[in-house]
Amino acid sequence: MENLVKKIPQNIRQATALIGQAAAHLNYPSYIVGGFVRDIILERCIKNKDIDIVCVGSGIDLAHQAATLFHPKPQVNFFKNFGTAMFHYQDMEFEFVGARKESYQRNSRKPIVEDGTLEDDQNRRDFTINAMAISLNADDFGTLVDPFGGVEDLAKGIIRTPLDPDITYSDDPLRMMRAIRFATQLNFEIEEESLKAITRNKDRIKIVSQERITTELNKIVAAQKPSIGFKLLFDTGLLHLIFPEMTRLHGVESRNGLRHKDNFYHTLQVLDNLCETSEDLWLRWGAILHDIAKPPTKRFEEGHGWTFHGHEVVGARMVPKIFRKLKLPLNDRMKYVQKMVLLHLRPISLTKENITDSAVRRLLFEAGDDIDDLMLLCQADITSKNKAKVQRFLDNYEMVKEKLVEVEEKDRVRNWQPPISGDLIMKTFGLKPSRPVGIIKNAIREAILDGEISNEYDAAYAFMVEKAAELELKPVSQ
Ligand code: CTP
Repeated sequence: MENLVKKIPQNIRQATALIGQAAAHLNYPSYIVGGFVRDIILERCIKNKDIDIVCVGSGIDLAHQAATLFHPKPQVNFFKNFGTAMFHYQDMEFEFVGARKESYQRNSRKPIVEDGTLEDDQNRRDFTINAMAISLNADDFGTLVDPFGGVEDLAKGIIRTPLDPDITYSDDPLRMMRAIRFATQLNFEIEEESLKAITRNKDRIKIVSQERITTELNKIVAAQKPSIGFKLLFDTGLLHLIFPEMTRLHGVESRNGLRHKDNFYHTLQVLDNLCETSEDLWLRWGAILHDIAKPPTKRFEEGHGWTFHGHEVVGARMVPKIFRKLKLPLNDRMKYVQKMVLLHLRPISLTKENITDSAVRRLLFEAGDDIDDLMLLCQADITSKNKAKVQRFLDNYEMVKEKLVEVEEKDRVRNWQPPISGDLIMKTFGLKPSRPVGIIKNAIREAILDGEISNEYDAAYAFMVEKAAELELKPVSQ
C-alpha cells in the first residue's frame, strides 16, 4: 500500500501526527478522508487546508483530546446533534466526525445515521476520488486506504461513484451537481453509467436547496473552462430544471435557407473566451447572460433575415428575476451584471458609423469604471469562424479602445458629475424637488455629452438659464 507521508506538507503532517496520538490514547482508529486526500495525490493541496478526520469512535471526543496537544490550545466548536467537531490551527481547519453508516429516505437529503466502520464511511461518500483515506494510526501512519480504485480514477481522469450511481445520486442529489463541478474543475470525464444515472435522477435535484445548487454552479462558472460543466448540465437535463432561460438559447432555426447561430454554444464560447482574460465571477455572469434575451426577441424579417432587436434591453430586465431565482445577490453585483448585458453591443456598434467623440463620451459616462470590463466582454464576444470577419472586428475593437483612451484623457467623463447640481437648480429658480428640476438637469448633461456646450460651470449655468426660460422659469433674486 502506498505511503503518502512525504506528500503531506510538513506543518499538516505534524498536526495530523498529534491527532494520531490523541486517537491512540482514546483507542480510536482514525484517518484523513475526502477532498484533502484527493488534492494531495493531485498535488493540488496547497489551496486545500480543510482537513476532514474520520475516526471509529466519537469525533467530538477526539477533537477535544487532540486540542490538548496543540499549542496554543485551539478552541473546539462542536455540534452534538451531528456528532461533529472542528477547530482551527494556524491556517488549517480540522473537522472531526465518527465513521458512519447512512441510509436515506426518498424525499429528504437528511439521512438516518448510525455508527459504522471506516469501510461503511467510505461507502457512503460521493466519488471514488473523494473516498480515499490516509491512516493516522501508529503502525501504518500515512498509508493510503483506497478500496474503490480512487488513485486509478485520478490518473485516468474519471468521476465514478463507489456504489451503484443510482443509489449515490438518489441518496443525495446534490452529488449530481458535484459530479459535474469536479468534471469541470479537474477536466475529468464522468463515467458513462454515472452520467446515465444523473440523467435518470435529475428530477431529484428539486429536493436540494437553491443555495447549495448555486454554490456548485458558481464553482463551475469560476473554473478555467466552464463550458465543460454547462454542456454536461444541458446534456443530462439538469440545466432545464435549474436554469431554463439558458437552455432556450439552444438550437438553430432556418427559414428561406437563412439560419441563425446556436446561441447556447455561442454563449459558452464567449464565456470560455472571457475566462482567458478575467477571473471575475460577475463579469463571467455577464457573459452567461449577455444574449439571454435572444430567444424572446427573435424575429424573422422578410428580405433581411433573423434579428434580435433590443435583446440587450430585454436581457438587462431579465437579470433581476434570474438572480432572484438562483439566489444570487440582489445588490451592486446584480446591477453590474445588468450594466454589462445592457451595454454589451455598444463598443462594437460604435464602429458601424464614424466614431464621434460624443458617442464615445456617452459610452464612457454610462459604463464609468466598468468600461475596461465591458471591453473584455466585447472582445470575448467575437466568436465568428470567418477569419476575415474576426480580423475586421478586432481592428474595430482596437480602434474603439484607442478612441476611449483619447476621449477620456481629454474630457474625463468616466466618473464624471455634471457641473450643475439639482440643488443649485432648485435654489436658482426657487423650486421644490419636481419634474422641471430633472428636465433641466438632464438637458445640461446631454448638452455636455453631445459636445454642444463645454464641460464648465459658466457654460452650464448659461445653458441652465436658457433651458429654464423655455419652461417659463426665471431666476429668483437672491
Ligand atoms: N461528500 C459526499 N457527498 C456530498 C458532499 C461531500 O460524499 N454531497 C464527502 C466527500 O467524500 C468529500 C467530503 O465529503 O470529499 C468533503 O466534502 P466537501 O468539503 O464539500 O468537498 P471536497 O471534496 O473537500 O471538495 P472542495 O473543497 O473542492 O469542495
